[in-house]
Amino acid sequence: MSFEPKILTFLCNWCAYAGADLAGISRFQYQPNTRVIRVMCSGRIDPVFIPRAFLAGFDGVMILGCHPGDCHYLSGNIQAERKINLLKKLLTDEGVGSERLLLDWVSAGEAQRFALLVNQFTEQIRACGPLPQAKDFEERLRAVAASLEGEKIRWMAGKGPELLEKENVYGERVDPEKINAVMESTVREELAKNRILILLETTPLTAKEISMKLELPLKQTLSYTVSLVGEGRIGFDPSEETHYPRYVRSA
Ligand code: FES
Repeated sequence: MSFEPKILTFLCNWCAYAGADLAGISRFQYQPNTRVIRVMCSGRIDPVFIPRAFLAGFDGVMILGCHPGDCHYLSGNIQAERKINLLKKLLTDEGVGSERLLLDWVSAGEAQRFALLVNQFTEQIRACGPLPQAKDFEERLRAVAASLEGEKIRWMAGKGPELLEKENVYGERVDPEKINAVMESTVREELAKNRILILLETTPLTAKEISMKLELPLKQTLSYTVSLVGEGRIGFDPSEETHYPRYVRSA
């Protein structure tokens, strides 16, 4: 059986949707694999929609907005680009494959470009094949979604780039390398902590068991579990009297 990808497409109302409309009126042929959601601006798209779309069974997600400089809300498409770049990093770190996500620009008059992008992306997803159905893969996607819903990553997606562009209160510019290093370690930490929380949903586990399941060094695993205990998100299993305590999710 040949694989027919299911693609979710977000179109900004003012440019890309109008371009899609024109493609229809002009009778340009394009692949019928996309389901369209019209949004007022590409900046409206919450990055968490993307892992949720994958969890709901879509094989790829395409976001088409106005060209840079043409956004009707001035910087919505630039903000979308920042958020999607951060999300691509999360997806790559979790082995989901950022090639299943496309952000691009289409103006109201670019009907042909719209049809071309749809056709190219559909072929790209067809070549990737269906998303794996393994439990581990689903847990990775859930960890990405949970990390994107967390306060830290939301703050970073919104304010991080601003920190690079503006001077701080002392009139100094923050070193981009330092900011990027902080962002990377925060992303890594949030993902790992969410994966631990997901693992503990069903079974209490020791730090060693967690470290083996997540293929993380034990020392790093312990630092994440200590932090989760401090945040009150996990605790110790009171029914277990073993030499090594087992962690459980807090109620
Ligand atoms: Fe089209 Fe903002 S209005 S991307």
